[in-house]
Order: sequence, then structure tokens, then C-alpha cells
Amino acid sequence: MKTTQTIKPLILKFFLLSISLSLAVLFLLLSLPPKSPSSSSFSSTSLTTPLTQQQQQQQQQHSDLRIRPGYSTYDLYIKKQLDKTLNPKLREIWTTRDWKRKVEVFGKFFDELRAKKLLSNDSKALCIGARVGQEVAALKGIGVNDSVGIDLVPYPPLVIKGDFHQQPFNNESFDFEFSNVFDHALYPDKFIGEIERTLKPGGICVLHVAISRRSDKYSANDLFSIGPLKEMFQDSEIVHVRKVDGFGLDTEVVFRKKKKKKKQSS
Ligand SMILES: *[C@@H]1O[C@H](CO)[C@@H](O)[C@H](O)[C@H]1NC(C)=O
Ligand SMILES: *[C@@H]1O[C@H](CO)[C@@H](O)[C@H](O)[C@H]1NC(C)=O
Ligand SMILES: *[C@@H]1O[C@H](CO)[C@@H](O)[C@H](O)[C@H]1NC(C)=O
Repeated sequence: MKTTQTIKPLILKFFLLSISLSLAVLFLLLSLPPKSPSSSSFSSTSLTTPLTQQQQQQQQQHSDLRIRPGYSTYDLYIKKQLDKTLNPKLREIWTTRDWKRKVEVFGKFFDELRAKKLLSNDSKALCIGARVGQEVAALKGIGVNDSVGIDLVPYPPLVIKGDFHQQPFNNESFDFEFSNVFDHALYPDKFIGEIERTLKPGGICVLHVAISRRSDKYSANDLFSIGPLKEMFQDSEIVHVRKVDGFGLDTEVVFRKKKKKKKQSS
């Protein structure tokens, strides 16, 4: 008897406590500012405008995508990227010790994508931020002959000069685009916008990104989930997401550009 008498008020206490806690959480959620709709700053800003305002906008838009501070001008950013791309020691490693292993591993990745019908021997393929072109060599090596890379520094014949924020190609040029340098994008929405612009309708984009670990000191952004990618690909649908072991990058995200354009309405 004694026990039930003491238990009842105890249960009541817990009940009231949990009610008030839930209400507190509810009010907290309601008082948070609504998520701002994603919008592309692609057309409204140029690459040479000061960064701070854009950085702030992007940080507010995607809390899972943070632009690293410290780039006061686009030239400074390019200079830092060139520091890595032109580093003679790195280039030496990329073209010798690294070469065979990377071409083999990329070849396996691309082979798997071809088995899933996301890539074929006839695909016109682009590798973005290709450095010395190991990915391009891998594509050609498995029979995807019409492949090319872009980077700030050319490495002919595999890699031609091009800035991924402003690809040197016409609209709807490629069937397949691959990149593992998303973290180097200072303007991630331009990086993605350019991919969508230069992909043919139905074209495939494969990104290798780092979600659960941070990348190197040359990175310009940090990504904490694939949410921001889904938001920035405005004219594509997601095909798959899977874990990979890709030279420090842990996640493969594949998008397919929609076949019919959903414009006209605006
Ligand atoms: C694609 O190219 C590879 C290498 O040249 C070849 O072995 C394979 O049979 C080709 N596949 C098709 C479907 O033609
Ligand atoms: C692709 O290139 C390889 C190697 O140069 C060649 O053997 C093959 O015939 C080419 N495939 C096509 C479809 O041109
Ligand atoms: C290329 O695509 C962009 C973005 O989708 C569009 O604004 C532009 O008008 C297109 N240019 C041409 C020549 O079709």
C-alpha cells in the first residue's frame, strides 16, 4: 500500500515534467527562424566581387557547408590553389609514385559506374580539377576514349586549362562529369551550377567528397552532409550515395541531370 501511494505522485511528477519539457522544446523549435529557400547566386555575382557578403549568405543557407574564411579576393584564392597545383614536389609524386596506383583505383571506380550504366565507352567525359590527369588516364584506360580534364594549370594532352567556377565549355557538352575537388570550391553553387550547365540532359555527375573527415589546408569549404549538394543541384535528381575509399574522400554522390527542363513557368 505504502509503495503505490508514493509511486502515484511520482508518476504524476514525471508526467508533468515531461509535458513541460516537450512544450519547452516545441516553443524553441517554433521560435527558430525558418530556413531560407535555396537560391543560386550564379547570375547575380561575379567572381571578382569581395567575398565576405557571399560567404555569409552561403553560410546562412547551408549550415552543413561552411566556406573557410581568409580569402579576401578571388586572386588570393587562385594564388593559394596554384600553390598546391604547381608545387614541384607534389607534381613529381603525382606523375611518378602516385600515378599507377591512382589510375588503377580510379579505373575500378569508373568500371563500377559503367557496370551500373552511368557511364559508357561512348560517353563524352570531363574530370574537374584533374591536376595531372590520373582520372582522365583511367577513363581512357577502360575504353572511355573521349575524356578530358580541366585544371588551373594544363597538363597536356590529358588536362586543359580551365577554372571550375567558369568552365570553358558550351552548355550541354558532356555525358559524364567527375570531380573529387569539391572542397576546393570557393563558390560551391557556381561549381555545381557549371556542372549542370555543361552536362547534357540525362548526363551524370559523380562527386567524391569528404563528409566525416576534414580535407587539406588548401580546401576552401567544409561539407558536413550531402544536404547542401542536393539543394545546389537544382536541375538534377540523385542517383545514389555510397561510401567509398577514395584517397581521403569517403562518400560518392551521383546526380543525373533531368531530361526535360522545368523552366517556362517564370
Ligand atoms: C569498352 O571498351 C573496352 C576497352 O576498350 C572494351 O574492352 C569493352 O568491350 C568496350 N565495351 C563496349 C560495350 O563496347
Ligand atoms: C579507344 O582507344 C583504344 C586505345 O587507343 C582503342 O584501342 C579503341 O579502339 C578506341 N575505341 C574507340 C571506340 O575508338
Ligand atoms: C547556357 O546555360 C545557362 C544556364 O543554364 C543559360 O543561362 C544560358 O542562356 C545558356 N546559354 C546558351 C547559349 O544557351
